[in-house]
Amino acid sequence: MHAPAVRGSCGPRYDPGVTTLVELAQTHTGVTGDQLAHLQRLVASWNVLADLSFADLLLLVPIEGEEGHRFMVLDQVRPMTGQTLYPQDMVETLVDEVERPLVTRAWRLGEIVEGDAPLLGASERVRLQCVPIRCGGRLIALLTREAPITSGRRPGELERVFLDVFDRFALMIAEGSFPFAREEVEPEDAPRVGDGAIVLDVGAHIRFASPNAVTSMHRMGIHAYTSGLRLADVGFEDSAVEMAARAHAPITEEIERGETSILLRVLPLFEGNRPLGALMLIRDVTDLRRRDRLLMSKDATIREIHHRVKNNLQTIAALLRLQGRRLESKEARQAIQESERRIRSIAIVHETLSREATDFVAFSDIIKPLVRVVEESVSTEEGSLRFKVEGDAGDLPGEVATPLAVILNELMQNAVDHAFPDQGTRLGGNVTIHLARVGDEVQVDVVDDGVGPPEGFDLDNPSGLGLQIVLALVRGELGGSIELLREEGTRVRIRVPVAAPRVEVS
Ligand SMILES: Nc1ncnc2c1ncn2[C@@H]1O[C@H](COP(=O)(O)OP(=O)(O)OP(=O)(O)O)[C@@H](O)[C@H]1O
Ligand SMILES: [Mg+2]
Repeated sequence: MHAPAVRGSCGPRYDPGVTTLVELAQTHTGVTGDQLAHLQRLVASWNVLADLSFADLLLLVPIEGEEGHRFMVLDQVRPMTGQTLYPQDMVETLVDEVERPLVTRAWRLGEIVEGDAPLLGASERVRLQCVPIRCGGRLIALLTREAPITSGRRPGELERVFLDVFDRFALMIAEGSFPFAREEVEPEDAPRVGDGAIVLDVGAHIRFASPNAVTSMHRMGIHAYTSGLRLADVGFEDSAVEMAARAHAPITEEIERGETSILLRVLPLFEGNRPLGALMLIRDVTDLRRRDRLLMSKDATIREIHHRVKNNLQTIAALLRLQGRRLESKEARQAIQESERRIRSIAIVHETLSREATDFVAFSDIIKPLVRVVEESVSTEEGSLRFKVEGDAGDLPGEVATPLAVILNELMQNAVDHAFPDQGTRLGGNVTIHLARVGDEVQVDVVDDGVGPPEGFDLDNPSGLGLQIVLALVRGELGGSIELLREEGTRVRIRVPVAAPRVEVS
């Protein structure tokens, strides 16, 4: 029944906020090493605290040499359960003892201090709670909770319970036991307080379940929920709660109940080393998982389609070959052979796409079989041509790879057909395909050391069908450019944008 949540937990997420935190800490404060890592872990997991407290949280770190007098806001988090008082970016704001004596008092006393204070950068007043952050017994920073001043309204049960849990976490922060020492990379789809929260006592008795949590439990088939019952008694497995308490670390787990998938995140609560229960966040991820599965089967379907297209193209090529063999006219036979070759080069791309999980192909996988198709068309007695592939074009989307395969096929065939007209006297010849990625473009050079293009050759008015196809694909379908350079032999250079939108052929 239990399946550990693996999705999204492979590798830490890139968080630009944490990068600035490190830079700012190094430039303005004396916090380094373990203490800095402690603050990083705190801001990686403090969205839960902001949501529980319905308020903005700021991380204030003393400026080096001015401890207790001046602080800098190194990070902030807004609640998803309430309105923010700081719609603007507060990071790098300086806070001093004149503006906020309460902050200085909390720092001097090393205790949680509460009171009214002005909003940073404004005259409006807020309810301020300053929580000392300790790491390894040392006071290193302050966390402030900045809430609107409530005008005598009695908070509802949910609000009271959440604020209680926040206060518990605040005490843990002051003790140095939150953030948890063991790092856990929070999965991308990790449940948040607003998704559903269950507060548990020691022994996993349910003390409170938020309305969203109750709904999720209903979907799991748990209808007989009453406060005071043990999680296990209502049919909810509670091993994650025990595990989290024992490990002094959050545990994330996915439970499947029939059609329903529930993601759990258990944060253990402590007083010193004494377990006090846990906060369990639960999120119904049934729809999310269904979409994952659909996407997966969609990928498989696309791969299967590519496979079938490849098979069909190979059948067409084989039929053409049979037809060609029956023809008397050399010209007609050649025309059929060329068509067969073009079709085979398209089949190669579909074959590669049918093996990929994405719609991208490594072009280096395509180029080898493409060269083989052309090599096979060179009859054995003049088989002294050498083909070489250099460089790499990286991964290309299927809609670029397919025309590019056809283009390369034509250009290689031209080198075979026209660059070395006197094979008998001239031994050997080299055809090199050079692939490169230049910025957002793929550059493909097909180079031969043959006789070069004929006098008066005009690329824009090609005599044959081959270059006409090439021009249409490069300029029209791919929105790229083509040049023909007379070197030792011929160099045809093609550049195709990879990210740019496709230009429609007129
Ligand atoms: N690598 C090359 N070396 C020398 N001449 C070339 C080269 N590539 C193209 N040409 C010249 O350009 C002409 C046009 O090529 P194009 O591919 O359009 O037609 P083709 O090869 O003659 O016929 P098709 O490709 O339709 O079978 C060729 O006939 C040849 O004279
Ligand atoms: Mg040609």
